[in-house]
Amino acid sequence: MSFDFLGSEQTIFSNPNALDPDFIPKLLPHREEQQNYVASAIKPLFHERNGKNVLVWGAPGIGKTAASKRVLKDLDEVDSDKKINQVFINCWKFNTTYKILCEVSRQFGYPFTQTMRTNEVMEKVAEKVEKFDGVVFVFDEIDKAEDYNFLYFILEEFPRRTIILITNEKDWGVDVDDRIRSRLIPETLEFKPYTPREVFNILAERKKYAFYENTWDSKAFAELAEKAAEYEDIRVGIKLMKVAGEIAENESTAKVVVAHVSEAIARIDEFKIKSSADLTDEDKFILSLCEKHNGQRFGVVYGAYENTGGVKSKKTFRRKLERLQLRKLITLETGGIGLTGRSTIIHHIGLKKRNNIIKEKTEHKALDEF
Ligand SMILES: Nc1ncnc2c1ncn2[C@@H]1O[C@H](COP(=O)(O)OP(=O)(O)OP(=O)(O)O)[C@@H](O)[C@H]1O
Ligand SMILES: [Mg+2]
Repeated sequence: MSFDFLGSEQTIFSNPNALDPDFIPKLLPHREEQQNYVASAIKPLFHERNGKNVLVWGAPGIGKTAASKRVLKDLDEVDSDKKINQVFINCWKFNTTYKILCEVSRQFGYPFTQTMRTNEVMEKVAEKVEKFDGVVFVFDEIDKAEDYNFLYFILEEFPRRTIILITNEKDWGVDVDDRIRSRLIPETLEFKPYTPREVFNILAERKKYAFYENTWDSKAFAELAEKAAEYEDIRVGIKLMKVAGEIAENESTAKVVVAHVSEAIARIDEFKIKSSADLTDEDKFILSLCEKHNGQRFGVVYGAYENTGGVKSKKTFRRKLERLQLRKLITLETGGIGLTGRSTIIHHIGLKKRNNIIKEKTEHKALDEF
């Protein structure tokens, strides 16, 4: 016999923390190869050699941060007589050389209690180099750093290190000066978006961490995974799981059904997917077309896209527009009915206006929150 209704003490969540933005699962399906790549860049440190530097890039919500953090956690568990330290810094939170080096020192275990000048901080951090056989530095959201002197400093002062830089921008590094560039020479590791099948598998795995068995109707889950695949963003899927689960619980229902997922999807527009404006080159290109053809119909903008070398299908193009809409960069308005169905009018929202919308909705903390 199954219970369709929950008692007041019952819950369908076996571990709600597994849906938190900073939860790092033990295994990240479909990112094994990338994790191995990063691990292999670190390995030389265990043999008293310098590690390799890696520039990780790819669209939002596809496991760049999670995979890198997973490698660091696994690194912690390596049984070795070598002292390999690790530093993880989000360059949005710490965006200048000064702030970054203070944070490096703190993560080394030496927080500064008094204010110092930048070169004094550098001296203090450099003194610590002897303490470790090697250091892995991960700088997430590297494109948010206002200057890159800290990179030069690390490259010069730490003879055995691996530097991992993470960004959404394929062309990151154009403004990095030559003295850093010639020392850094990173290998590039691209994270490609997941296929719909992969999105399904990843979310199904996460569901097992977070919910009790038999708490999800399979059709409801399939719809949720499809939506996340449309956005090509695992964050969307995880957030939808959380919201749909909460809606079901509020109704004291023991199973998440299609109606709960539909309601969660309807609310998704209220979520801020991510406040950073990092876009891939193609997104930027599409956005520039929307700006140029502001207020025009979908067909016109798609035509312009095709004429300027765009190769994606109409369906993919529409999905990309929907993602830009989610990021509050454009709005898609349903227009009149044409011969082949309802038309869509595309409105470009200037970056400034968009940032104001976002500022109103969010605070700067917790970058990974919606
Ligand atoms: N392969 C995977 N297996 C399990 N969870 C995943 C996987 N890929 C992504 N996730 C989850 O999806 C969410 C988004 O991933 P993550 O934060 O790593 O994105 P990102 O690529 O760093 O995006 P951004 O560029 O916006 O920072 C996280 O909650 C992460 O745990
Ligand atoms: Mg990230």
